[in-house]
Amino acid sequence: MSYNLLKGKRGIIFGALDENSIAWKTAERVHEEGGTFVLTNAPIALRMGTLKSLAEKTNSQIIPADATSVEDLENLVEKATEILGGKLDFVLHSIGMSVNVRKGNHYTNMNYDFTTKGWDISAVSFHKTMQVLYKKDAMNEWGSIVALTYMAAQRVFPDYNDMADNKAYLESIARSFGYFFGTEKKVRVNTISQSPTPTTAGQGVKGFDGFIAYADKMSPLGNATALECADYTVTLFSDLTKKVTLQNLYNDGGFSNMGVSQQVMQKFVDEQE
Ligand code: NAI
Repeated sequence: MSYNLLKGKRGIIFGALDENSIAWKTAERVHEEGGTFVLTNAPIALRMGTLKSLAEKTNSQIIPADATSVEDLENLVEKATEILGGKLDFVLHSIGMSVNVRKGNHYTNMNYDFTTKGWDISAVSFHKTMQVLYKKDAMNEWGSIVALTYMAAQRVFPDYNDMADNKAYLESIARSFGYFFGTEKKVRVNTISQSPTPTTAGQGVKGFDGFIAYADKMSPLGNATALECADYTVTLFSDLTKKVTLQNLYNDGGFSNMGVSQQVMQKFVDEQE
């Protein structure tokens, strides 16, 4: 279903790696809604070559950028406004990576060089992106910036490791930068806190299958899919949400307000019988 919600709007979409990526689904939905955009990812991720098919499908160009490099981000924003023919209306930050998780380091046994690297990629890159957009005055008034996060920023999920801390930092950046972007440029900044989703980043979390099944059984509406996250992002990019800013918005089927569900409880009842 398409409603032309983003007709005439221009933007940048970070983080589409393959067709499971939340950013991939978002690019497809934004395209369907009439938005135009530049796709970007880290040069190393682009070597896989899969992004080309998304670019073709959505009539967009790809500009490589390591989101931890201010120089790359400056080049990206300059080129994107040139290619798209004007200032931007939307930006999706869909980037996350923990080196400690990748290397199998437990939360109580971190390598702090890895911690710093993961924090830079997963959290500070959002500040860097916004600072470049802000300094270059590259956003149109009533534009919208969205980053993706997870509820481990608020509650304990032991295997989420240092990504929990990175997400807490990311959500704080959204509020802090959102204040300046709002008062000075009328641009809104929000984070979407998404259900566990089977993507490359998601499946990197230890015990992901249990994690996703538990969340699904706890949520009255079940887990939100990547496509449902894309749909929510489209509404935040549209003019229908102009006064929504500085928010962390849950797209999780209700999980974040649950104590226990009957389905989960039943498992323990069954065990005792
Ligand atoms: P994904 O693995 O498809 O996307 C992560 C992206 O980050 C990849 O495209 C990767 O190339 C990019 N990236 C890594 N380092 C980068 C760098 N230095 N510069 C630029 N890009 C870089 O996985 P997914 O799940 O689509 O992740 C998107 C966002 O959604 C992340 O912020 C993730 O934490 C968040 N999220 C994911 C959930 C899940 O269960 N999959 C749940 C809640 C939030």
